[in-house]
Amino acid sequence: MESSATQTETPITTIRDVGHHEGQAVVIRGWLYNLRESGKLLFPQFRDGSGIIQGVVVKSQVSPELFDSIKSLTQESSVIVTGKVRADKRAPGGYELDVTDAQVVQKVKEDDPYPISLKEHGVDFLMEHRHLWLRSPRQAAVLRVRAEIIKAARDFFDDRGFTLTDPPILTPAACEGTTTLFPVDYFEEQAFLTQSGQLYVEATAMALGKVYSFGPTFRAEKSKTRRHLTEFWMVEPEVAYGTLDDLMQLAEEFITHIVTRVLERRRPEMETIGRDISKLEKIATPFPRITYDEAVKMLNDGHEKGLVENKFEWGGDFGSPDETYISSQFDRPVMIHRYPAKVKAFYMEPDPQRPELALCVDVLAPEGYGESIGGSQRMASYELLLERIHEHNLPEEAFKWYLDLRKYGGVPHAGFGMGIERAVAWICGLEHVRETIPFPRMLHRLYP
Ligand code: 4AD
Ligand code: MG
Repeated sequence: MESSATQTETPITTIRDVGHHEGQAVVIRGWLYNLRESGKLLFPQFRDGSGIIQGVVVKSQVSPELFDSIKSLTQESSVIVTGKVRADKRAPGGYELDVTDAQVVQKVKEDDPYPISLKEHGVDFLMEHRHLWLRSPRQAAVLRVRAEIIKAARDFFDDRGFTLTDPPILTPAACEGTTTLFPVDYFEEQAFLTQSGQLYVEATAMALGKVYSFGPTFRAEKSKTRRHLTEFWMVEPEVAYGTLDDLMQLAEEFITHIVTRVLERRRPEMETIGRDISKLEKIATPFPRITYDEAVKMLNDGHEKGLVENKFEWGGDFGSPDETYISSQFDRPVMIHRYPAKVKAFYMEPDPQRPELALCVDVLAPEGYGESIGGSQRMASYELLLERIHEHNLPEEAFKWYLDLRKYGGVPHAGFGMGIERAVAWICGLEHVRETIPFPRMLHRLYP
């Protein structure tokens, strides 16, 4: 949207849109990103959140006051600039700005400069200054891709007849295991921050058929890996009458939709991030599907060839190195289904053919990014579910309502959860999930 600056008729625009104003004067409201000098010329670079543009200030063509004011601008000072847009093939965005006026909104003091200079900083320092680090082009690009992924995820479900239903964040009981709950004082009662909206979307699926949730979830995990946050955002579809096969088809279509959307709409951001997109261009349905048994065999064959360090014992859960090895065998996400029930959550439907297995699936992203989706068919039997709740030492009282779903018109149903941050890390090719969310929460990180 364009509006007019109050003091002049010059249109206010964003750097992204300067191309619509070639040859015209415009006003850009932003910050000083960088400043180079060359004799009687100044080359201030401005950023406004939508992009970066280089300005040119020629000493002989502007007032001495303006020249000096720009010359003394400090990094990240906020400034409203007026200038004429000129196409320049060599400029990164294709345009430069011949500056004619500048109004400094707030000047960063010389004796207290912007802490993040354009040279390299250590990650700890940057994390301490996350509130400022977000201004860097790469971090801003990641946030735009994140927003696109969220939009793509929501559009995918909205366009397929799913209804968004929001589960509570304060909950009376565990969903994914009692060891990773964050307790909260809830008046006279004990509550917990939700680990997953799943149990609640199972209820809304029985009311609306196809539903999903998208919201924050919490895990009091003490793990310090590049894949774990203590607070993350999860998308969770749930389908009444859905089976494991339906779920796998939904998951592969969902991931393919998201990747395709990012490639369509966020190429410039992917370039800023430096992502090699050729690997993403290969993502298409169908994804390979292997059983847990086949995955174990793959690991042990790898062990015999000296490619995998340890022999894998059937019955255990896969660790990161195992997942990395398995996914490295494929050029697209791989779906591993039917894990031993013992390593999975209490609510999963047993495989009728082999009840020691659960009708579940984990989708592993390529390039070593590991599990990005976990899901399952849900337990249908009231009696068996009650037994599992007891086996897992879960408080029956808190699950009474959940058991009701099996008493009053219980049906087969299935759903999955995808952590947005895992998807962003993989799609952007990031080292660590801490850069996928504006303000990450981790084991030793609660500030800023
Ligand atoms: O595999 P999880 O724990 O499954 C559930 O929570 C199910 N209740 C979901 C469902 O069926 N509706 O978590 C699902 C996904 C993982 O595959 C991963 O992408 C992400 O959530 N995730 C995390 N992301 C960041 N940090 C963590 N600590 C995560 N734990 C899980
Ligand atoms: Mg999982």
